[in-house]
Amino acid sequence: ADRPAMVVAIDGPAAAGKGTLARGLARQLGFAYLDSGSLYRAVGAKVLAEGGDPADDETAARVAEALQPADLERPDLRSEAVGRAASLVAAKPRVRAALLAFQRHFAASPPDGKAGAVLDGRDIGTVVCPDAPAKLFVDASVEIRARRRMEELRQTGADAIYAAVLADLKERDERDRNRAVAPLKPADDAELLDTTDLGIEEALETALRIVRRKTGLA
Ligand code: DC
Repeated sequence: ADRPAMVVAIDGPAAAGKGTLARGLARQLGFAYLDSGSLYRAVGAKVLAEGGDPADDETAARVAEALQPADLERPDLRSEAVGRAASLVAAKPRVRAALLAFQRHFAASPPDGKAGAVLDGRDIGTVVCPDAPAKLFVDASVEIRARRRMEELRQTGADAIYAAVLADLKERDERDRNRAVAPLKPADDAELLDTTDLGIEEALETALRIVRRKTGLA
């Protein structure tokens, strides 16, 4: 008989290294990976593309309720403007409700018959998958996160000014932490992983050790 899928939940603020860790964990464990931020980014991108206001409840909810899997392949999802719009639409209860079922289904039935799933975001351990056996809350100083985000942006050819990236991260964190629905915060049973002084390899090894201890996976 099929076993229930094993879920690894990775939450944390923007540019803390969640995506890199989640992808690495999924590869090592042979699990599927869902970047839940891409759902909110896709909603934000579509609202901007139609000239709408991401702060408008009705527009954001309508777009979220009509979201299609192909929207997650949009090429503009990683831009700063879309990240900002994503953070705005993500504060809206109807938007969150519309995206919840997709995420839960992915966790319960990972694609390609994989035995488990790694999901990263802000509320995976608290709201989307509260029963996940392994939860990590990945954090780093805001200055280091701004440096990493700048590197990312420069690699895509975008111009990035440190002070602007830092201010933007602070604003998004503030909004993500203080919204009324599903705010960013560690689940009670999450392990904290501070990557401020860790390289990618070290962070991944630490994360794997935590996940193996929590799940009993070899
Ligand atoms: O992780 P990211 O930067 O791609 O996320 C973009 C925005 O989406 C982020 O500012 C907050 C929101 N988000 C969320 O509210 N809940 C999630 N599970 C994932 C992202």
